[in-house]
Amino acid sequence: MNILDGKALSETIKQEIAVQVAEIKAAGGKIPHLAAVLVGNDPASQSYVKSKVRSCEQVGFNSTLIRQDDSITEEALLAIIDDLNEDPYVDGFIVQLPLPKHIDEEKVTLRIDPKKDVDGFHPINFGRMAQGLACYLPATPYGILQMLERNGIETSGKHCVVVGRSNIVGTPMSILLSRKAKVGNCTVTLTHSRTRDLAAETQRADIIVAAIGIPGFISGDMVKEGVVIIDVGINRVEDASRKRGYRLVGDVDFESVAPKSSFITPVPGGVGPMTVTSLLLNTLKASKKEVYG
Ligand code: GUN
Repeated sequence: MNILDGKALSETIKQEIAVQVAEIKAAGGKIPHLAAVLVGNDPASQSYVKSKVRSCEQVGFNSTLIRQDDSITEEALLAIIDDLNEDPYVDGFIVQLPLPKHIDEEKVTLRIDPKKDVDGFHPINFGRMAQGLACYLPATPYGILQMLERNGIETSGKHCVVVGRSNIVGTPMSILLSRKAKVGNCTVTLTHSRTRDLAAETQRADIIVAAIGIPGFISGDMVKEGVVIIDVGINRVEDASRKRGYRLVGDVDFESVAPKSSFITPVPGGVGPMTVTSLLLNTLKASKKEVYG
């Protein structure tokens, strides 16, 4: 069993980005600039956004955090997006999800200029991804592709089972792994809450991507020997023994699955750090106008 250390790999990639930023600076170019909009006080969202801003500082990007109370109207939030779309100093931006119930997330996502949509959530970026055109890949699937590639994990001809069909992880992951690409050429089964006999599907998998948001859902009896496990889950479970009162666990029961696996991502320290780094890579691409010219 090998641990896929996302923390270490993300540090390596951040160093590579920092070198590029230093070169841009030395040449008198424009420093990449990421903006993040955070609405309300959801603890997980605050922690993710904090980590995104901190990572920007680490690589030498400029960053702007726009915090708004959860009473903000949809109209006011859309006006902030319009401003960011027009701001020549901002290369890319994200609106952290989830948003308060009175705000239509679809409307918000559609309002973001696809050229600045470094989350890759806009349907234009999603459609371009599905057709293999230049686009911003959604950060989590992008991070997973890099993890597989940089650890030399062969995907071609492998059977990959994706568990969960969200717009931001499961569905794009299933498309990307099935495409004719350096990391791709898998036969993909996309499973979800209505899949019959899920264990029969996961037992046939060479690679499992678990993204359903249920702590410890994939157990040792559901996987075959030698499986590659990518655990996207970041679930908070109560733990009185921890100072903060909870601990983070994945969608995979590490204890029973790890001994059967050839490679496995830990939680925390696996996919999570790679997601943030991928957002930085998209921002760098935005600042260099690599995707849309
Ligand atoms: N909420 C959970 N994951 C994400 C993400 O990758 N981007 C944004 N904007 N919100 C999220």
